[in-house]
Amino acid sequence: MNPGLDDVIAAETVLSHVDGAGGRLIVRGFELEEIAGRSFEAVVALLWDGLSPESHTAETLRAALGAARVAAFERVEQLLPMADRLAPIEGLRLLLAALADAEEIPHHVLAVAAVPVFVAALARSRQGHAAVRPDPALAHTEDFLRMLHGAPAPAAHVRALETYLVTVADHGMNASTFAARVIASTRAGLFSAVTGALCAFKGPLHGGAPGPVLDMLDAIGDASNIRPWLADALTQDVRLMGFGHRVYRVRDPRADVLKATVVTLRGGENRIHFAEAVEAEALALLRQHKPGRALDTNVEFYTALLLEALAIPRDSFTNVFAVGRVAGWTAHILEQNRIDRLIRPQSRYVGPEPRRPQAA
Ligand code: ACO
Repeated sequence: MNPGLDDVIAAETVLSHVDGAGGRLIVRGFELEEIAGRSFEAVVALLWDGLSPESHTAETLRAALGAARVAAFERVEQLLPMADRLAPIEGLRLLLAALADAEEIPHHVLAVAAVPVFVAALARSRQGHAAVRPDPALAHTEDFLRMLHGAPAPAAHVRALETYLVTVADHGMNASTFAARVIASTRAGLFSAVTGALCAFKGPLHGGAPGPVLDMLDAIGDASNIRPWLADALTQDVRLMGFGHRVYRVRDPRADVLKATVVTLRGGENRIHFAEAVEAEALALLRQHKPGRALDTNVEFYTALLLEALAIPRDSFTNVFAVGRVAGWTAHILEQNRIDRLIRPQSRYVGPEPRRPQAA
């Protein structure tokens, strides 16, 4: 019995491999560093290749996603007032759950297109602004930033966000992907599986960590407080957000890709130096506090700095992560559909035995 299913192999996949000892991520035969330079559409087409009923190139997918963003926008307007009183991640959960199984657009295309439309509309309505209509002629990432901020984004910002989205697009059998595959295995449909994945994603041990990373940097405040603050947190058994991983025993390779992107964006200024100092101290203290455990920097630490530099509201960080990860969820659901085997493990009963009737 293994409550965290560590090291249990629950599926064979052609999609991605997390090499925890070597600190490598392989996506469909390519190293992460090579994937990181591609467009979002190219990476989604690669992930879906041979799994989706229709075949795509980056160009055909750009047009298909553009049209599907417009379709998704039409679903949003009437539901937004209901989502308004919720946190952004809860709003996204509500809007995804409202997609109908009877939709005629291929569901994987509509799901990938819908997430940024919903995320942008939710963030804007939270700030009291009207949702911005998608422009189907634009590339996916460029249109997302335009819908979010209400104005075209600088090319450097589009490129930085695109690097982020493709870097996090897929990552082996993580908790949300596993949840998606379990739901898909019951033939419940793609929108149910994606909604379930998002529910697993929102927790702070998974996709919910980047906002709290910034909260931690804010709470530390300045360089003189780094060591006392971190030492105090560890003494109280608080988990440091942005550190540790179930599979990586070395540094998460995505952290390096994202750190390099943040540096290009901000010219090495601002919070990056402070964050580096916090990271170095956190790693040293984690080694002392958990000597038997290899705890290193994970993807969320530099995600937080990158999304902050792009002026994305902190309470939308997990939603923006989902803009990228929905690519992986849909690919895994398509792959699971082909396997078509209900995922149904066993549990061991440790409760009491039924009482025997007393003899009269
Ligand atoms: N800070 C302090 N201690 C930690 C941390 C951390 N970030 N991570 C793990 N530990 C400790 C645990 O408390 C535990 O201590 P114990 O053995 O004394 O009980 C030990 O290290 C092993 O922890 P596990 O829970 O077995 O590690 P696991 O591999 O299950 O956890 C996880 C991985 C959930 C990511 C964990 O490292 C964590 O909570 N990190 C902080 C949250 C975070 O950054 N989440 C994003 C992960 S990346 C992603 O999902 C996209």
